[in-house]
Amino acid sequence: MSFDPVARVYHVVEALVFGRTLQRARVAWLGEVADARRALIVGEGDGRFLEQLLGIAPSVEVVCVDGSARMLAVASKRIGASARVKFVHADLAAYEPAGRYDLVVTHFVLDCFDEPGVAALAARLTATLAPGGRWLVADFRVPTGALRALRARFWLAVMYGFFRIATKLRVKRLVDPTPILERNGLVRARWTELDAGFVGTALWASPATASPRPRVVAMQEPGDSEMLRPIHRPWRHRRMRPGSGRPRLPRRTRSE
Ligand SMILES: C[S@@+](CC[C@H](N)C(=O)[O-])C[C@H]1O[C@@H](n2cnc3c(N)ncnc32)[C@H](O)[C@@H]1O
Repeated sequence: MSFDPVARVYHVVEALVFGRTLQRARVAWLGEVADARRALIVGEGDGRFLEQLLGIAPSVEVVCVDGSARMLAVASKRIGASARVKFVHADLAAYEPAGRYDLVVTHFVLDCFDEPGVAALAARLTATLAPGGRWLVADFRVPTGALRALRARFWLAVMYGFFRIATKLRVKRLVDPTPILERNGLVRARWTELDAGFVGTALWASPATASPRPRVVAMQEPGDSEMLRPIHRPWRHRRMRPGSGRPRLPRRTRSE
């Protein structure tokens, strides 16, 4: 399996099928991680999230791991020379992160693994997360509601079919990482859905930041909502100024 054949056209295909939805999901909680210092981006792809993270987090140093040399080359070209980023060409099935990270990112990559694969990768990534660390996960999901679920399953079948031909991806079924991350002791601190629930984007927090009494509140702009747990957030030591890079929150969301 390799994403090399699609690396250069990946963003074009994505834009044709999803418009800006997936990029909005990737950066939905970027403002929450602007103080990250050591980030591990797993399966980064062509560097569009990386570019935004470097723009918003002035102190961050990033390790970017991907199994596609061409994806890494596209990402590297996108950001230009940067001493803050190390690119690692490795198979995530065997990759053992070294050291501790206060931010882990797995956007649209857990969908490339079967359930044992997601569980094994999640265990290794949880172990590398520093106390109080955060984990960003954007990915596809099957929403509730018969019609929405039918639509999601149709597009997932199309996408898995496409990637089976283009990349030789063997996985055929989407795994919900939520119970796996919960079993690893992580708490979902931020959550929103896009595209009628077909895409979900979450900020998970490691146990050191979690409160035992979660609650749900509606907030942000009208029409936007998020699941807010009353976590202690040591990383919010400075507020983002309007226009300072905090991304717009996704539209078309609904609370769980
Ligand atoms: C669907 S793309 C997603 C890319 C990007 N994160 C995004 O948000 O669009 C999956 C990426 O994960 C990488 N990947 C998938 N399985 C992998 C594995 N077993 N080892 C290393 N990289 C893998 C692919 O090379 C590709 O760049």
